[in-house]
Amino acid sequence: MSPRDARPEEPAAAVGSVEVVQSVEPETAAPAAPARPGTHFHISRRKQGDPKPHFQNFEIEVEPGATVLDALLQIRRRHDPSLVVRHSCMHAACGTCGVRINGREALACDTKLATLPTHKPIKVEPLANQRPVADLATDMVDFYARLDAAAMPLLRASETAGGATPPENIKAFARFENCIECGLCLSACPIARTNHDYIGPAALAAAARVVEEPRRHDLGPVLALAAEPDSVWRCRDAIECTAVCPSSVDPARALLTLRRHVAANGARRFLARR
Ligand code: SF4
Ligand code: FES
Repeated sequence: MSPRDARPEEPAAAVGSVEVVQSVEPETAAPAAPARPGTHFHISRRKQGDPKPHFQNFEIEVEPGATVLDALLQIRRRHDPSLVVRHSCMHAACGTCGVRINGREALACDTKLATLPTHKPIKVEPLANQRPVADLATDMVDFYARLDAAAMPLLRASETAGGATPPENIKAFARFENCIECGLCLSACPIARTNHDYIGPAALAAAARVVEEPRRHDLGPVLALAAEPDSVWRCRDAIECTAVCPSSVDPARALLTLRRHVAANGARRFLARR
C-alpha cells in the first residue's frame, strides 16, 4: 500500500500483521529484549466535534521487543477498537505512523518500548502543527500540498526512467529522495507552531533538491516560492527538523542551501534591472 493510501479508517489488515510478525521470530534472531510486562500508556484522544483532546490511560502487557506501534495496535485490538492510529509498512519506510512520544516526534513503528523510561507512563500524542483527524491521526493534505508547491509532487516520474543515465554527482541529491513524507519535521518546527503559513522544513528541503537538480527546468516558480515571506527567511535555525528526521534528509542544511540560491537569484534580478 502506498503511504498516500494509508488512512485511519482502513487499518484492519495491518492489525493482524502484528500478530504474524511477533509469531515468526527466526531461530537465528538476536536475543530478545528484556520483557516489559506492564506498561502504562497515556494516549491523546479526540474525535471529530470534540472541542479539545483529552488523555486516556491504558495498562497493558507487552511482548519483549514490542514497539510503540505494536502497543497501540494491541490497545485497539483488545481494549478500544475506536482508537485511531495511522500506519502502513511497520518498518520505518512509509512515514505514516508519526506521533509524539513523551513529547518528541518519532515513528511509532521504529520506537521500541525498551528504549523509553519505565518510571512514568508513555505519553502518545498526534503530530503538532497539522490539523487533527481523530486521536493520533492528522490530516496530511496541507503537508503534501506544500511539497507539490515546491515542485516535488508526491506522484513523480521515476528517477530512473527507461534510458535515463543517473548524473555522476547523484549522491549530492540523494538526501531528499530519502524523505518518507512523515511530517515529523513540521511537527517539531517552532516556527510552524505559531505561523501556520510557514511552508515548513520538508517542503523547503524539497525545493532545495529541485533547485540543485542537475536536469534543471524552470526554477522561477520554486525560487519565487522560497523567497516568499513565510518561506526560507522565516526559519530561525532551531534545527529541530533535522534532529527528529528519521530518514537523514537534514532539512536544516537543505534550507541553508536554498537560502544561498534565493539570495543569488535576488542579486541577479537586481543587477539585471540596472
Ligand atoms: S524531511 Fe525527514 S522528518 Fe521531514 S517529512 Fe521528510 S523524512 Fe520526515
Ligand atoms: S508504519 Fe510505515 S513508517 Fe511506521
